[in-house]
Amino acid sequence: SGPQCIAIDGPAGSGKSTIGEQLARQLGYLYVDTGAMYRAVAWLALHEDVDINDGPALGRLAQRADVVISHPHISDGRQYTVTVNGQDVTWDIRKSDVTRAVSAVSSHPEVRKLLIEQQRAMAKQGRVVMVGRDIGAVVLPDAELKIYLTASLAERARRRHTELVERYGAVHENVPPLEDLIRDIERRDDIDHDNMRPAIDAIVIETDYLSVPQVLDTIAPYVEDTV
Ligand code: C5P
Repeated sequence: SGPQCIAIDGPAGSGKSTIGEQLARQLGYLYVDTGAMYRAVAWLALHEDVDINDGPALGRLAQRADVVISHPHISDGRQYTVTVNGQDVTWDIRKSDVTRAVSAVSSHPEVRKLLIEQQRAMAKQGRVVMVGRDIGAVVLPDAELKIYLTASLAERARRRHTELVERYGAVHENVPPLEDLIRDIERRDDIDHDNMRPAIDAIVIETDYLSVPQVLDTIAPYVEDTV
């Protein structure tokens, strides 16, 4: 049978979405990227001009934000499709305005409470790989397997830069210089710090010098062990 819930946490650029998606595919589990949910709410806040520092207003916004993460359907490199109140925001939530706003938006307990409830509901049927910052420690403390991925700031920024260049080409408005990415990630790490809790029973994997297949190979025996 294997573990019913696998939690993968880690900072921006630690590889958690790549690893999470591939692991879910190997196991035939549902893949849920909780960062996309926070990004969707941040996108809506910017779209509707809601102050990203106003917790109660963001709580109300999140309440009427119908965020749906579903099978991609379109093959343009997306891992999944994200809609907010019916609008496809899959690529918009990756843009730098959302990336800069998302940590402030997700720092409000009013927002977290709501999204955490939704995340728990999604994991209820089991057979899920859920990826985020606080999944093992807060959202799914009973998850059978908890992985925490880390990498140095420089490596994480380099990965994000490579990803963006692959998507948009080297010279494009959506591809900031590496120095800007380092600064943005550092800022986000700082704000995310309070909600970023490795569970005490998480397996910590330092990924600086590991390829994606090597990280998956490192995780494999733990997956088998929990069967
Ligand atoms: O993983 P990703 O970079 O897409 O996450 C975007 C932001 O969403 C994070 O910087 C963090 O502020 C927030 N987040 C969170 N809790 C999670 C997942 C994401 O606070 N479980």
